[in-house]
Amino acid sequence: MKEDLVLPAPRGATTDSAAEPLLVVEGLTKHFPVKGGFPIRRTVGAVQAVDGIDLTVNVGESFGLVGESGCGKSTTGRLITRLMEPTAGSISYRGKDITHASRRELAPIRSEIQMIFQDPYSSLNPRQTVGKIISGPMEINGIEPEGGREKRVRELLEIVGLNPEHYNRFPHEFSGGQRQRIGVARALALEPKLIVADEPVSALDVSIQAQVVNLLQKVQQELGIAFLFIAHDLAVVRHFSQRVAVMYLGKVIEVGDRESIYVRPRHPYTHALLSAVPEVNLAEEGAPDRERIRLAGDVPSPISPPSGCRFRTRCWKAQDKCAAEEPPLVQISGNREGHLTACHFPEDPTIEGRDEDIVLDPALAALEEELGD
Ligand SMILES: Nc1ncnc2c1ncn2[C@@H]1O[C@H](COP(=O)(O)OP(=O)(O)OP(=O)(O)O)[C@@H](O)[C@H]1O
Ligand code: SF4
Ligand SMILES: [Mg+2]
Repeated sequence: MKEDLVLPAPRGATTDSAAEPLLVVEGLTKHFPVKGGFPIRRTVGAVQAVDGIDLTVNVGESFGLVGESGCGKSTTGRLITRLMEPTAGSISYRGKDITHASRRELAPIRSEIQMIFQDPYSSLNPRQTVGKIISGPMEINGIEPEGGREKRVRELLEIVGLNPEHYNRFPHEFSGGQRQRIGVARALALEPKLIVADEPVSALDVSIQAQVVNLLQKVQQELGIAFLFIAHDLAVVRHFSQRVAVMYLGKVIEVGDRESIYVRPRHPYTHALLSAVPEVNLAEEGAPDRERIRLAGDVPSPISPPSGCRFRTRCWKAQDKCAAEEPPLVQISGNREGHLTACHFPEDPTIEGRDEDIVLDPALAALEEELGD
């Protein structure tokens, strides 16, 4: 990647009040109807994909949203970018309620909230040149930058570390990492204030992932763009996000600044996710072993999630109360300001090794016991 790029002055914090959050999501809910029956198909249930989540993203901040497959991350991203209509809850952007805003009402802010998708192969039109792809959003929004669109596209190509001379090439002429850079350039074309990046590197080779994450970080820091960065594990967001929320089965179960989440996690599920992350923390010499929790087994169906705490069917600390009462997402005793945890019996704030490993999948535990004998 080129290091000596000339970037426009940071925006965002200079024009926005630092005190006012960019995005506030409250009670956000998306239930997909499940149809059944023959010959008349009726609604027989609902996939509770996202179930009452609260999030705040500040101006210029990188906010990570993490959880296993199917926990509702992409749905959350699509609701926030208004590609999907929420079932309940509210979304407010720069103080304006956009939950049910019409296309016309959304038009002025459409350009300010952009999305980067996981799959750089399917998210670019193979029949369009890179120039056409990146200038598309400008065309749609009738934006004519100073010096013309082509000049702006060339600038954008340079910002994302691609050769501006490749303006007339087609997506198939680029590698996976380069295509994702094209996706980033397209997202930057309208000078957004918020980018929702839905697993932007998980389809890429591991060796390329860091380069693209570095590019996004550079964009976030130098252009002052806020990010909602979606990932399925905590490793990727660790270097990128100032604050992190952990999702499980449609709910946020823990949220806090990076250090709180990585060094002093309190929710058992966050412990389990962290113990699956290679290299996190404590890798330095003389540091104690990190605990090991094998988070295997399936996440329960979001059509009929467990009562009370949704993590209880996989939690080693579950008690009767966990089935009876849903734990609220609150600042529990011992947590720092802004670190919220939804658990009746939180873990100690440490991720040091325990005397015994915790194995969450009963089948795996049984197998290990058998093999151990
Ligand atoms: N259009 C839809 N209709 C019905 N169910 C859906 C729809 N979109 C998503 N779901 C379901 O909602 C739940 C959440 O899906 P979502 O794609 O948001 O999860 P995710 O966290 O992004 O998962 P992944 O890591 O696999 O991308 C899943 O159970 C999924 O099957
Ligand atoms: S509330 Fe109970 S089941 Fe849920 S994470 Fe806490 S201890 Fe485990
Ligand atoms: Mg997803």
